[in-house]
Amino acid sequence: MEIPWKAHAWRELESARARTLDMLAGLPEAELLRQHSPLMSPLVWDVAHVANYEEQWLLRALGGRSFTEPAFDAIYDAFLHPRRTRSQLPLLAPEDAFAYAARVRQAVREHLDTLPEDSPEPLLKDGFVFGMVAQHEQQHAETLAATLQLMTTWEYRPAARESPRPGAVPQHEVFIPGGPVRLGSDGPWAYDNERPAHTVDVPAFLLDAHPVTNGDYLVFVESGGYEDPRWWHPKGWDFIQSERLSHPLFWLPQGQHVWLRRRFGWIEPLPKDEPVQHVCWYEADAYARWAGKRLPTEAEWEKAAQGSDGTPREHPWGGARPTPLHANLGGDTWGPASVGAFARGRSADGVWGLLGDVWEWTASDFSGYAGFRAFPYREYSEVFFGADYKVLRGGAWASAPVAVRNSFRNWDFPIRRQIFAGFRCARSVK
Ligand code: AVJ
Ligand code: FE
Repeated sequence: MEIPWKAHAWRELESARARTLDMLAGLPEAELLRQHSPLMSPLVWDVAHVANYEEQWLLRALGGRSFTEPAFDAIYDAFLHPRRTRSQLPLLAPEDAFAYAARVRQAVREHLDTLPEDSPEPLLKDGFVFGMVAQHEQQHAETLAATLQLMTTWEYRPAARESPRPGAVPQHEVFIPGGPVRLGSDGPWAYDNERPAHTVDVPAFLLDAHPVTNGDYLVFVESGGYEDPRWWHPKGWDFIQSERLSHPLFWLPQGQHVWLRRRFGWIEPLPKDEPVQHVCWYEADAYARWAGKRLPTEAEWEKAAQGSDGTPREHPWGGARPTPLHANLGGDTWGPASVGAFARGRSADGVWGLLGDVWEWTASDFSGYAGFRAFPYREYSEVFFGADYKVLRGGAWASAPVAVRNSFRNWDFPIRRQIFAGFRCARSVK
């Protein structure tokens, strides 16, 4: 890293914490403790889980001191208790959870000062484990946002930063020529599931210049897309039948072609120019089939993000850190921007909006690249490999820059809709 990692790592940890505290400031205790949805943890569980993870990796694993009464490790272990059961655990009260997080952070500050800048030890090399913990807290900040979006017991209306005004760039298809592409990353803070960087050949294809918008998706909805099994994967058809789904989550049909949507504590007209979000993989897959297209594979997605000229790029626009003019990231807009708002974020081939706004579902199952080695623990990635999970790429408005890059891989079940996910379509060249 060009900057000494300690200063950089500390800044990332502190900005993750500032965001976590800011998101939850002003919420009544009862809302912090409540199970807002069976899909999500009580908000206060995430706070103490993040602190416990930090204690495990930045104190205990690095020979620092430990606070934990042994029971904490179990209460805040994501694998021991399914989310829907977590409000029944003997959770720390909100005040105590915030105090625990602050105490751990103070001890991390002190321990950090004693560590070498240039250790060859894998956990410490280039500050890897600090990057892992900062990304973890930011991933949980995004999880908190999903929980807050599901909350119906309190009107949550945070101050939202405005996005840049969109230019009028109609949807079109971009031709991505065939050829080799370097996938994955050997970068210092890359996760095990991004490693090792490797080259694959991707045949030529066409990719939508923008994600599918609410307006695009509404045509599918209003022309009977949810009533015609031809468009649906058989499991997707079963899912929308049994759940009686007829539109994306948080859309509110008013009749007479009037649609509203709920975004946190606001009810708004459905914004036609924003990427559709809160659709599951099956809904994305069905739309693509109806449109005569398909979802891109994750290799195609990453090739489009890298650019077809063979230059390795951390972001579609290159190596520069994302700014609010490059992409809608970091959580403070509290929703997607209209497509076409980020001219600076275009890829080398002219694809818009690959990072930020909404996660993009891909056609691919989550699996390890050839030569994968779990590091530093199997439960981050490896235990999720297999056909149960689909890969999402590109990050959402709620994802932090530290946890978003061309090579970053997210995954979820193909039925999940509470995440900030949308998609764009691809087409093979005949
Ligand atoms: C990478 C978003 C699927 O939230 O389950 C958080 C990230 N891993 N704590 C998740 C994660 C451990 C993970 N995702
Ligand atoms: Fe976690």
